[in-house]
Amino acid sequence: MGTGYTYGTGTAVSPGIPAAGLLQRLALDEPEFETRMRESLARAEKWLQATAHESLDPRVAAITGHLADAGGKRLRPLLVLLGAEFGDPWAHGVTQAAAIAELVHIASLYHDDVMDGAATRHGVPSVHARWGERAAVLGGDWLLARAAQLAAELGPAAVHLNAQAAGRLVAGQLRELAGPAPDEDPVTHYFHVAAGKTAALLAMSLGIGAVQAAAPAPVAAALTECGEQLGIAFQIADDLLDLTSPAELTGKERGKDLLAGVQSLPVLLAREGDAPAEAGLRDLLDAGPVPAAALPRALELFERSQALAETEAVMHRRLDRARTALAGLPDLPARRALLALCDYVALRTS
Ligand code: FPP
Ligand code: MG
Repeated sequence: MGTGYTYGTGTAVSPGIPAAGLLQRLALDEPEFETRMRESLARAEKWLQATAHESLDPRVAAITGHLADAGGKRLRPLLVLLGAEFGDPWAHGVTQAAAIAELVHIASLYHDDVMDGAATRHGVPSVHARWGERAAVLGGDWLLARAAQLAAELGPAAVHLNAQAAGRLVAGQLRELAGPAPDEDPVTHYFHVAAGKTAALLAMSLGIGAVQAAAPAPVAAALTECGEQLGIAFQIADDLLDLTSPAELTGKERGKDLLAGVQSLPVLLAREGDAPAEAGLRDLLDAGPVPAAALPRALELFERSQALAETEAVMHRRLDRARTALAGLPDLPARRALLALCDYVALRTS
């Protein structure tokens, strides 16, 4: 791969993107379906905002509402609503379920930014940068508790799916923290981590939408599998964006995974490679987290290495598996939207 490597070819996303922004990018040309989705996304957004800001103490509400206000793609609520299309999309609890998925996601970002020491998220100061680590941890806990309460209002299936996803997220993050076991292949370890910290919630989102809408069990299972594979591809795309996409597009500092010493898939593949750029990279990466002064050189070596193209190929294989999971499902607009989402993940820039 030559210099000037760019992953994806989109335009900048400003913070505070409306909830329907992602839907629009799928360019579906299904007006009736899109109107229904847009209205449901707006209702889910209301649930999310009301919940995140519900504390009567405005100082608490400012903290718990901070990232909900900052925007984001609202991928998880969209997945919940797409899952619900395979049953009765108007069923009780579908939009609350969409809010639950985003609350869990936002809670995890509060904690993740503490763990990463990240200064920004969605283009605004992270919660811990603004209010300190203790407030960020507690704010995340609070959002998680509210997600659990909303799930309890929906019934045991939602409680189970919510608890399972939250547990997998934490376990994935703990596994990342622990690193590979002495006898574990680092790439295998990476996939376990990605399955927990990212795929679990995407799988849960499609699954809870289907379950809440009373879709047939095999359909819910196929959707869950699609979310699992899409989630791993999404995490790989995220790893690539860290190395290739400028902060103005992602709302995060470029190269922050390298600075934090994260063993992302491109890092692992670069360490395994034998092209000249990989040798230089290995020296840098073997020494631990990349020092800020060496970041431009590390990014340039990545551009010249094979690792980015190899990582992209792995991502495409996961997207193919996500598409295959949809093969037996009815040809609804939601199925076409999920296929378009697979294409979008491959091209995304933020
Ligand atoms: C972002 O990934 C982080 C996650 C997908 C999940 C983080 C999970 C936890 C911190 C466990 C706690 C969970 C709950 C439910 C409270 P990344 O760090 O690879 O990407 P980034 O570049 O967006 O930070
Ligand atoms: Mg992170």
